[in-house]
Amino acid sequence: MNETIKILKSHRSVREFVPGKDVSEAQVRAIIEAAMAAPNWINGQQVSVIEVRDIERKSLLAEAAGNQRWIKEAPVFLVFCIDFYRAKLAAEKNGNDFEIVEDLEAVIVGSTDVGIALGSAVVAAESMGLGIVPIGGIRRNSQTFVDQLKLPQYVFPVSGLVIGHPSEIPDQKPRLPLKATLHKEKYDAEVQMEIIDQYDQTISSYMSERTNGEDSSDWSSKVASFYDKGFEQYAKNTTPTIKNQGFRYK
Ligand SMILES: Cc1cc2nc3c(=O)[nH]c(=O)nc-3n(C[C@H](O)[C@H](O)[C@H](O)COP(=O)(O)O)c2cc1C
Repeated sequence: MNETIKILKSHRSVREFVPGKDVSEAQVRAIIEAAMAAPNWINGQQVSVIEVRDIERKSLLAEAAGNQRWIKEAPVFLVFCIDFYRAKLAAEKNGNDFEIVEDLEAVIVGSTDVGIALGSAVVAAESMGLGIVPIGGIRRNSQTFVDQLKLPQYVFPVSGLVIGHPSEIPDQKPRLPLKATLHKEKYDAEVQMEIIDQYDQTISSYMSERTNGEDSSDWSSKVASFYDKGFEQYAKNTTPTIKNQGFRYK
C-alpha cells in the first residue's frame, strides 16, 4: 500500500485538540494549495475558503454550528464555500447573462467542487499529522456565517473544517463493506438490506465500546432519525439563505 492510500485509509475525525498548540500559516497555505489543485468544474474554481483564527469569532461560529466546542478549541477553522461570485464578475466582464444561478445545476456544481476540495484539504492536513473534523453544522445557521464572514452574493457556506493537533485519536469508525458500496456493472439493490442488518451490529458494538456502554445505537436508527426530523434545522435555514445569496433554482 502506498503512503497516500495509507493516509486515506487511516482517517478518523478528531474532536480533542492540544490546547494552545498552533497550526502555522505555512501549514494552512499548503493545505489550501493542495485543495485548490483539485479537479473542478470547467476550471471555474467555484470554491473559496475563509480562514478563521480569531477566538471570539470562532466562539460565535461554534455556537451557531450547534455548540460544537471543537471549533473554538482548535486553532484553525476553515469555512468552505460554494463561490459563483467570480463567475458573476466573468459574466459582467464579457457581457453575458448569468443564468446558471437560476438552476439547481449551480448547487450541484458548487457542492461537488467544495466536496472535492474539502477532501483534498483533509488528506493534506492528515499527511502533516494534524487532526480534522468537517463541520456541516454550519448550515444550521448559515445566515450567521454569511453575515459574520461577509460573504457576497453567489457565495454560500457548505462545510467547515476544524484543524488542530490531536490530543486524542479515536478508533476508526468501520465503514459499510464494499459489497454494499461498490457495484460491478449494475447496481445491486438486493444485497443492501442484509448488509444493513450486519452493519447495524458492527456500529452498535463500535459505539458501545467508544462510549463505555452509554450509547449502543446502530447505524440505521441514526440515519433514519436524522432523515426523519433531524435535518429540520438545516432545511429551515439552507433554503432561505442560499436563495438570499442569489441562487434562485426552482
Ligand atoms: C460534510 C461533512 C460534515 C460533517 N459535519 C460534522 C459536524 O458538524 N460535526 C461533527 O462533529 N462531525 C461532522 N462530520 C464528521 C462525520 O460525522 C464523520 O466523518 C462520520 O461520522 C464518520 O466518522 P469518521 O470521520 O471518524 O470516520 C462531518 C463530515 C462531513 C463529511
